[in-house]
Amino acid sequence: MKEIFEAIKRSAIKIKWLIENEDTGYSKNINSTGDTQLKIDIKSDLVIEEEFRKISSVKEIISEEKEKKTAINENGRYFVGYDPLDGSSLLDVDLSVGSIFGIYENGYSGTDLKAVVYVVYGPRLELVIAHEDVKLYKFTEKGEFIFNQVIKLKEKGYLNAPGSTQGCWSKKHKQMIDDIFASGYRLRYSGGMVPDLHQILLKGGGLFSYPSTTDRPKGKLRMIFEVFPFAFVFEKAGGAAIDGKKRLLDLSPTHPHDTTPCFFGSNEEIKLVIKYNE
Ligand code: AHG
Ligand code: MN
Ligand code: MN
Repeated sequence: MKEIFEAIKRSAIKIKWLIENEDTGYSKNINSTGDTQLKIDIKSDLVIEEEFRKISSVKEIISEEKEKKTAINENGRYFVGYDPLDGSSLLDVDLSVGSIFGIYENGYSGTDLKAVVYVVYGPRLELVIAHEDVKLYKFTEKGEFIFNQVIKLKEKGYLNAPGSTQGCWSKKHKQMIDDIFASGYRLRYSGGMVPDLHQILLKGGGLFSYPSTTDRPKGKLRMIFEVFPFAFVFEKAGGAAIDGKKRLLDLSPTHPHDTTPCFFGSNEEIKLVIKYNE
């Protein structure tokens, strides 16, 4: 596991360099979800693959930018599902973006997750490792990631990050979001799930939602690369993550690019989501 964390740290430093120096324009390719890939999405994916090819514990990888699973090491133990650059369409306006890695064993169900790493490319480079607990590391002038703190959610927060477009929400979802704001929550939504969830985790709690919508009944966010990893982080930090009713980590994808509605939060907010979905 340690060598996977180290490979991710090396990729993060290289991707940070790409973000600061490379072209952030679109390529001519479309990925499996139907998004037009940025040139930097493709390059970041290759940087990560190259780092995983240097180590022996990774058996297979699958990423948001790859159509199929890719074999790495026949004798490897772990399967890594990753989103090389999450929120990449925000790069042209210089907002924070991230990378997400789910380290699985045996398969890609929520219960196969053994550890998660996510990287935030913001004004600073930060990395979070969720294994037994959730630890934040900051990249320093020494050229390495230094431990900063253990991340722990409070029982109730004050931030609300509601995804998608209001016009596509169900009546029930709109009512819930309106009621949450009416009870004093503040809106925090950049359109990048990594910085949006990182903010909720570091400011003690709140709710991030990407529900079933009229245009995307199964939500937008992908189970293997985005949803399961953050569900794991939120549970390890003392919060919860559900699809509206069920625990997200109890789900299994039938296709690598499957999506699901998702709600991540501290315990009080998730109890509220359950109440509205009864
Ligand atoms: P990606 O850039 O990897 O395709 O992911 C973008 C995702 C996620 O980061 C964010 O939370 C969500 O898209 C935002 O979607 P909406 O604009 O529909 O709210
Ligand atoms: Mn993404
Ligand atoms: Mn992406």
